[in-house]
Amino acid sequence: MSIIDLEHLTKTYYVRDPSHNWKTTVKEAVGLKKKKTLTALNDVSLNIQKNEIFGILGPNGAGKTTMLKIIAGLLIPNGGEATVCGFDALKERQDVRASCSFLRSGGWIIFDYKYPLYKNLIFWAVVMGAEYEEVKEEVDAVLKVVGLHEKKSEFPESLSAGERQKLNLARCLLAPRPIFLLDEPTVNIDPYSANFIREYVKNTLVKERDMTVLLATHNLWEAEMICDRIAILHQGRILEVDKTENLKRRFGTEEAVFKIKGGVRGLKSSMEDIPCISDVVVIGDVVKVFGRDLRNNFRQIIDRVDGYGKIEYVDIIQPTINDVFMQLIGEVEGDRE
Ligand SMILES: Nc1ncnc2c1ncn2[C@@H]1O[C@H](COP(=O)(O)OP(=O)(O)O)[C@@H](O)[C@H]1O
Ligand SMILES: [Mg+2]
Repeated sequence: MSIIDLEHLTKTYYVRDPSHNWKTTVKEAVGLKKKKTLTALNDVSLNIQKNEIFGILGPNGAGKTTMLKIIAGLLIPNGGEATVCGFDALKERQDVRASCSFLRSGGWIIFDYKYPLYKNLIFWAVVMGAEYEEVKEEVDAVLKVVGLHEKKSEFPESLSAGERQKLNLARCLLAPRPIFLLDEPTVNIDPYSANFIREYVKNTLVKERDMTVLLATHNLWEAEMICDRIAILHQGRILEVDKTENLKRRFGTEEAVFKIKGGVRGLKSSMEDIPCISDVVVIGDVVKVFGRDLRNNFRQIIDRVDGYGKIEYVDIIQPTINDVFMQLIGEVEGDRE
């Protein structure tokens, strides 16, 4: 069952040159000069299923934050439709907003810097509709989750960037909403805490509380660790959407490494006819075979190598989402040149 549906979504921003002045504004208003726009999302269609962790990967400026803002009901698209939890993101924005917790990068600016963490969170818990009797307990619980409980009497101004991000995460956790939008959640956060947050999202929010998570990131490794499906976004367009494993199988390059005792002369050319192989590199007695889906054709490859000498060592190195990302983005960038 899909919980977020995006149909042909388009978003353009109005942009101003550094030379823009009041005359330009007047010319634009009377139609003497065309308004300059930037297309941040271009015909994006997506269905996100309930209870999945969905990753939006893309380089800086790809349109990830724009997409999350539209889903959160904070930004109105220029074209297309967005339905979130059954609500129309254009016509029922209040309901859409109440369906999503949005962890934004830099979102901690909403806290009162001269007010202790604890009281800041109590304020936000009440604003977001918590029962007053239960507020203190809930705030204590989320402060423990993000590891800030011992600092609860300190002020946001004395926190590090990573701690402020954790404080913002704590605020999001106070609102029991079905969709959790995470925009670069672990930027500035130390590896230990980042790992804890990932585990918490996966095991507690998704498995136990049945939430749906959208993670926008350029941390490919993080996405690979927790996402069920991934969309690769570039210049406002979706290049591919699939399960993480499928993307790696379809676009990643596997590497099989053999160490051979005996001769390797002629081995490279003898493997050229195996369709799944894209390249063979021989370094001394080590042979590296590159290609797609090598695992399923391994018998044929082994037989060929075996004819040349005794195989002392063999290993298959799996592709990562990083490889897929580089491949897909590289293809588009290459076409532009
Ligand atoms: N308020 C805005 N006004 C003008 N351009 C914007 C605005 N917000 C974002 N953009 C532009 O839209 C594009 C996509 O931005 P964004 O969605 O923030 O990308 P990402 O989060 O993937 O880095 C970028 O080129 C960015 O400069
Ligand atoms: Mg962004």
